[in-house]
Amino acid sequence: MAMARGFLVAAALCLALAVPAAMGQAAAPAPKAAAAPAPKAAAAGPPNVTAILEKGGSYSTFIRLMKSTQQDTQLNSQLNGTSTGFTVFAPTDGAFSGLKAGTLNSLSQQDQVSLVQAHIVPRYYSMDAFDTASNPVRTQASGADGPYTLNITATSTDQVNVSTGVVVTTVGNALRADQPLAVYSVDKVLLPYALFGPKPPPSPPPVPSAGKKPSKGDSSASAEAPAGSGGNSAGAAAAGARAAGWVLAALVAAASLL
Ligand SMILES: *[C@@H]1O[C@H](CO)[C@@H](O)[C@H](O)[C@H]1NC(C)=O
Ligand SMILES: *[C@@H]1O[C@H](CO)[C@@H](O)[C@H](O)[C@H]1NC(C)=O
Ligand SMILES: *[C@@H]1O[C@H](CO)[C@@H](O)[C@H](O)[C@H]1NC(C)=O
Ligand SMILES: *[C@@H]1O[C@H](CO)[C@@H](O)[C@H](O)[C@H]1NC(C)=O
Repeated sequence: MAMARGFLVAAALCLALAVPAAMGQAAAPAPKAAAAPAPKAAAAGPPNVTAILEKGGSYSTFIRLMKSTQQDTQLNSQLNGTSTGFTVFAPTDGAFSGLKAGTLNSLSQQDQVSLVQAHIVPRYYSMDAFDTASNPVRTQASGADGPYTLNITATSTDQVNVSTGVVVTTVGNALRADQPLAVYSVDKVLLPYALFGPKPPPSPPPVPSAGKKPSKGDSSASAEAPAGSGGNSAGAAAAGARAAGWVLAALVAAASLL
């Protein structure tokens, strides 16, 4: 028993000492070994946006949103064979938690697709190339009024700002910046103007055509009128007016009989 335990302890000690040593050995020659096959391995497949975001470590909400809207597989397949490349602005988890509560849930599935697509520009921009961007830059999203756009401006302080018209933020560090895919961190969700911009004022409710103003003798008609103000349609009000007119006509007819 004691010997067996002793053996186990010794074996565990050997492992504990050997594993880091082995790892150290494996890690040390890796760059040399990787140097030769690397170009081939990189060319073997298109970049995987999900893997890049996962590696970034703080993009789980955006990853989840990309998956639920199938924009991860969409982009990954578009990346295979693209000549112009893509640029993704990836909002951090902090960016999403900075949104007003319920913002995402208030969006329809289609609008969630648009929200994700509004963070994807169908062109590869290196950090230095942003100042060649011609504003407004179209994104992958579009709606009834055309493509959703971003304005990208390189500021004098060597910052790059991106604006939707609702949100302005500074482009953060690159999670990846090699053709054909650039992924930049942003600390705000790029809320599209088309979804979050000021809405045109609702067209004023149609003023029910009051018909003729109640005249002095028209007491029955003016008694009817308030009934139409509680949301009844203009048609109902008109019908009321017609009925009142009919009553009046009947009264006149009755009077003429006297
Ligand atoms: C991309 O990466 C994710 C996460 O690592 C993985 O689940 C997925 O299978 C990958 N997709 C492709 C097409 O390799
Ligand atoms: C990329 O496209 C080529 C040709 O269309 C196809 O053969 C290949 O399987 C694709 N690779 C991936 C990872 O989807
Ligand atoms: C974006 O840039 C265009 C062209 O410079 C300009 O007309 C437009 O007003 C800008 N929009 C926003 C939201 O800054
Ligand atoms: C760039 O964006 C930052 C916010 O991230 C803002 O404070 C700054 O004023 C912007 N600069 C320009 C030139 O728009």
